[in-house]
Amino acid sequence: MSTRNFAIIAHIDHGKSTLADRLLELTGAVSRRQMKEQLLDQMELERERGITIKLAPVSLNWKDHQLNLIDTPGHVDFSYEVSRSLQACEGVLLVVDATQGIQAQTLANVYLAFEHNLVVIPVINKIDRPTAKVETVSGHLQSLLDCQPQDILAVSAKTGQGVEQILQAVVDRIPAPEADSAQPLQALIFDSYYDDYRGVVLYLRVAAGQLKKGATVKLMAADTPALAIEVGQLKPDPQPADELAAGQIGYVVTNLKSAQLARVGDTVTTNTAPASEPLPGYEPAKPFVFVGLFPVDASDYPLLAKSLAKLVLTDGALVCEPDSSPVLGQGWRVGFLGLLHLDITVERLRREYDLEVLTSSPSTAYELKTTGGQAEIIKTASQLPEPSQIQSLAEPIATGEIVTTKETVGAVVGLVNQARGTQTGISYVDSLAVVAFEAPLANLLVDFYDQLKSQTSGYGSLNYQFDRYRQEDLVRLDFLIAGELVEALSLICHRSEARDRGRQTVDKLKAVVPRQQFKVAIQAAIGGNIIARADLSAFRKDVTAKLYGGDVTRRKKLLEQQKKGKAKMKKIGKIDLPPEVFRSLLKRD
Ligand code: GTP
Repeated sequence: MSTRNFAIIAHIDHGKSTLADRLLELTGAVSRRQMKEQLLDQMELERERGITIKLAPVSLNWKDHQLNLIDTPGHVDFSYEVSRSLQACEGVLLVVDATQGIQAQTLANVYLAFEHNLVVIPVINKIDRPTAKVETVSGHLQSLLDCQPQDILAVSAKTGQGVEQILQAVVDRIPAPEADSAQPLQALIFDSYYDDYRGVVLYLRVAAGQLKKGATVKLMAADTPALAIEVGQLKPDPQPADELAAGQIGYVVTNLKSAQLARVGDTVTTNTAPASEPLPGYEPAKPFVFVGLFPVDASDYPLLAKSLAKLVLTDGALVCEPDSSPVLGQGWRVGFLGLLHLDITVERLRREYDLEVLTSSPSTAYELKTTGGQAEIIKTASQLPEPSQIQSLAEPIATGEIVTTKETVGAVVGLVNQARGTQTGISYVDSLAVVAFEAPLANLLVDFYDQLKSQTSGYGSLNYQFDRYRQEDLVRLDFLIAGELVEALSLICHRSEARDRGRQTVDKLKAVVPRQQFKVAIQAAIGGNIIARADLSAFRKDVTAKLYGGDVTRRKKLLEQQKKGKAKMKKIGKIDLPPEVFRSLLKRD
């Protein structure tokens, strides 16, 4: 029996999971009756949103071959996972939607596949759709991959048309793994998850040696021992075996208690005769979007702490540290891989732990160098020392590609420049343009993607990754209400953007700060310099004003209530600010 290891890569929604379903069905791994749509997307959230978050490897038997298939996530937040799963394969199916054509993630994935020297089998999907442009897309693929028309398969994952030829192509074109079972064990973790009953389960590819049931193993980067309680393959239900041989893909149930110990990309070896080197390419989790999470109901803080601790067990990429805000109370500052990762986490808190949280607006991390010569990563303006102690500040820069039509290149480059970015290159794939760019990550986070969509009539697609920290003229922007600094509102931004940010926030504050019996100045400042100001005119809000004469008890009661309401507010100097003021500012627009 010969083995083939392959992954499916595609831009989001081009049909990877649907195609995987058909392959499972065709090879008899799952009967039509058992087939739930997109079987490999197991998390409830994944099924609902129709996106793949976690990878699931499945072993298919077809004719005389064992075909190990890895489904990969298509979203940019999870590209590190894609890269690791590619390292576990010799080839990929590159799925392109016949109605959409090549998009940014398609390209990013193709470049990754080239980097790993993988065989690429191009597959045009959704040919059943009336708007399918098979010829055009085929032309684009030929020039992208430098291949012949007959190399390109055209299928419908929905109807199953043409899917069987994919299996034949996998066997014919992708080489069997070359792996030496005589060498010490080296197995690459390309995914891990935490199971409430079984502990941490690893998905891995054995690159050399063999992994036996019951062996004591070592995770090399984490420098952690573990017991291989069970080993086996997913077909797609787990089938335990005595060992996983060199070249095979499978799972291991370990006695580890946290997914943070089992990071994707780490190498598993045996404890007794360990490999001298880990497999290349391991990177620790690098979150670069930070958000404060606060329970809507302050008494839920212990539940939030407990829930996050549990999520961290299952999501090795989450990074949490305690945070507190004078107004929102106690919470956590959590680092995410991107906004989708954030969204999914907030949603999981709601569903799995019945917890409503407030999120602060997302910010990036900054690299601070102090005059004392120390370098550290900070996540909020309040972590900044006195200006005299700051030698320099650097912000994260992302590099990436935007795929768009030739006609919209001008608009796209304009958009990049607006985000303080620069175009670093341009290439063409037939009638498509690929604009390479770099830009501050902070400016890609908020509404860049929406603007790209509107500038390109929905066509443009974007892919980016963190590249480096770059020293910039960054300033701390403060806000003062009635002359008092409100530190919870302070932020770090580029000097050239400070005036606009200041103006917007001051206007927003003016709309939500309750009027006082005296005039209140709302100001934005850099250091001692006021850069924006709005005045809130005086106003006396007397809840009893509506009640003329008469009922003294009712009048007293209302004043009593007003006093209670005030107790909940936050005193900033002479002014009481209701929590809503902060909430409205923290919320993303
Ligand atoms: P991610 O996992 O989020 O990256 O998406 P995906 O690439 O796995 O896409 P998925 O399989 O979820 O398919 C996206 C949508 O396209 C779903 O609504 C599918 O039903 C639909 N779809 C997939 N393949 C076909 C096809 O061949 N024909 C038609 N008409 N629809 C398809």
